Amino acid sequence: MTYEPPPPCTRPTIYFVGVTTQKSSIMKVFPRWAEILGIEAEIRGYDAVPNAPAEAYRTIVQHLRDDPLAMGALVTTHKINLLLATRDLIDELDPYARVCGEVSCLSKRDGRLIGHAKDPITSAAAWRAFVPRDHWLGGGEVLCLGAGGSAVAISVSVPEFERPGDRPRVIHFVNRSAPRLDHLRAVNDGIDTDIEFTYRVNADPAVNDEIMAGLPPGSLVINATGMGKDSPGSPLTDAGVFPDRGLVWELNYRGELAFLQQARRQAEARGLTIEDGWIYFVHGWSAVVSEVFGVELTPELFAEFDRAASALRPS
Ligand SMILES: NC(=O)c1ccc[n+]([C@@H]2O[C@H](COP(=O)([O-])OP(=O)(O)OC[C@H]3O[C@@H](n4cnc5c(N)ncnc54)[C@H](OP(=O)(O)O)[C@@H]3O)[C@@H](O)[C@H]2O)c1
Repeated sequence: MTYEPPPPCTRPTIYFVGVTTQKSSIMKVFPRWAEILGIEAEIRGYDAVPNAPAEAYRTIVQHLRDDPLAMGALVTTHKINLLLATRDLIDELDPYARVCGEVSCLSKRDGRLIGHAKDPITSAAAWRAFVPRDHWLGGGEVLCLGAGGSAVAISVSVPEFERPGDRPRVIHFVNRSAPRLDHLRAVNDGIDTDIEFTYRVNADPAVNDEIMAGLPPGSLVINATGMGKDSPGSPLTDAGVFPDRGLVWELNYRGELAFLQQARRQAEARGLTIEDGWIYFVHGWSAVVSEVFGVELTPELFAEFDRAASALRPS
């Protein structure tokens, strides 16, 4: 795959830097949100394979910096790699971007290119939308499969939840290779928290089944690997058994979503609460669109965005 610079923008444009961007609901949702905001703007996708060469990230960030009508971008999947490859092209990082070592949003202010990490805020909002208040007083733990950008965001934001019952006692992270776990551990070592973090390198779904089997009732299992959307399959086998009365969070809402299907097959028998990535999607995009176009995301505006997006949600 070669990475060509996008053609010059002809009107204010927000970019979506991802893997299969044309398939995202945002392509239908953004024009409706632009109407709500009363702005003339378009959205363009920029696709790169996961772990793309640095050239892919430099091409899009140089374009964002140099084209006056390129207003900013939402970055998914490439949040860490993009920052590693383009740090010298970005004028300023917000505090979460500095702590997490990732950018999920690029915006411009007074000609300066600013990198933001919105996921700690938006993943926390999505978490709160389905994890009941004081859930962790029941003693469950969290197993997060995948230790990429979203896992970092979750591990940074959950310790900030004020009520002790809203914070799990333990979060286990499993990743198929070591570097992301090392990065995550370095980020978490800088956090003052009562949550215990564990880290394990593993790429074998049968071993993930075993790890899941050791969780107490009421635990939360997260698929933050991208498997089922960015790559085929699930990090679990079909024989994996979800925790009794557990919570299950698939971070994606589109794709074959094998992990989500595995959970759904056990929903009744195990008393599971299952959440996909839709609310996370709406929170993530509303935060970035409001940042890029310089509008305040009030609860009323979020509710309007949510209604408009839900009407366009694929069945
Ligand atoms: N709904 C939403 O709005 C929303 C928001 C954020 C993210 N997401 C989705 O959530 C997924 C994760 O996002 P991200 O930004 O965290 O991606 P990411 O930075 O690419 O992280 C994915 C991580 O999963 C690891 N992994 C892949 N297969 C694995 C396996 N079988 N077992 C264990 N670890 C495995 C990868 O390991 P390596 O380090 O070895 O590559 C990588 O560290 C993406 O599909 C993204 O689209 C959705």
